[in-house]
Amino acid sequence: MDAHLPIGVFDSGMGGLTVLRVLRQRLPGEDLLYLGDTARLPYGTKSRGTVARYAAQAAAKLVERRIKLLVVACNTASAAALEDLRELWPDLPVIGVVEPGAKAACAASRNGSIAVIATESTIANQAYQRAIHKISPQARVSARACSLFVSLAEEGWLDGPIVEAVAERYLIPLLISPDKPDCLVLGCTHFPPLSATIAKVMGHGVKIVDSAESTALEVETALSAAGGHNARLGMGKAYFVTTDDAARFSRIGSIFLGEAMAEQDVELVNL
Ligand code: DGL
Repeated sequence: MDAHLPIGVFDSGMGGLTVLRVLRQRLPGEDLLYLGDTARLPYGTKSRGTVARYAAQAAAKLVERRIKLLVVACNTASAAALEDLRELWPDLPVIGVVEPGAKAACAASRNGSIAVIATESTIANQAYQRAIHKISPQARVSARACSLFVSLAEEGWLDGPIVEAVAERYLIPLLISPDKPDCLVLGCTHFPPLSATIAKVMGHGVKIVDSAESTALEVETALSAAGGHNARLGMGKAYFVTTDDAARFSRIGSIFLGEAMAEQDVELVNL
């Protein structure tokens, strides 16, 4: 592994920036190359075959620019295409977000009742249910697709009465179950910016977890195993590419990233 190369990260849009943000905190010396496929968002309502094709094209763009490791910072793409990507690039470590998210949920739950919210596609192919049961076979998993959260987050609508009404419509069925969950996994990288509203609806006693921290830990472990850490002392650089409007990407992307992103730092690419 060439330690000087960047880590490649992709998502259907801005959601994966919530993972990139934690990667930067945890691995400050690394360069990061992020691709947001905003022209084709959402992935979460599309068929598995389409998502797998889009994921392979996004990954190919990053590989073409040379990366040392690939993070699939999209649960929908991780669920649909992780194995395909590993087969396409057998020498490249490829890390998804579903398993790390499942690990975080199993560690957080005390009563064994775990709720998962994600896109339609991730819920339909039972990716989280399988990943959680692999770690905790006794866990009881309830799941709900919350597709509109993706559009709300991409619109920058994170709180207020409209967002709360949507959150209530999606989340209340999870709360009225007699086996009330004590942990809710945000199984979509677009959801963390909405976590305050989601937490308000879920109420006290329900821990909200996402995959960013445990994904970053997995990346760190993979780099150590391959001797691939960038040994520089200063901060690494983050490069952004998008398949649609760079101005919008930098404006909305700043919300997900938690810091300002300049339009001139975002490059438009075609897949
Ligand atoms: N951010 C993606 C995920 O984690 C989904 C958003 C979309 O539907 O494109 O699943």
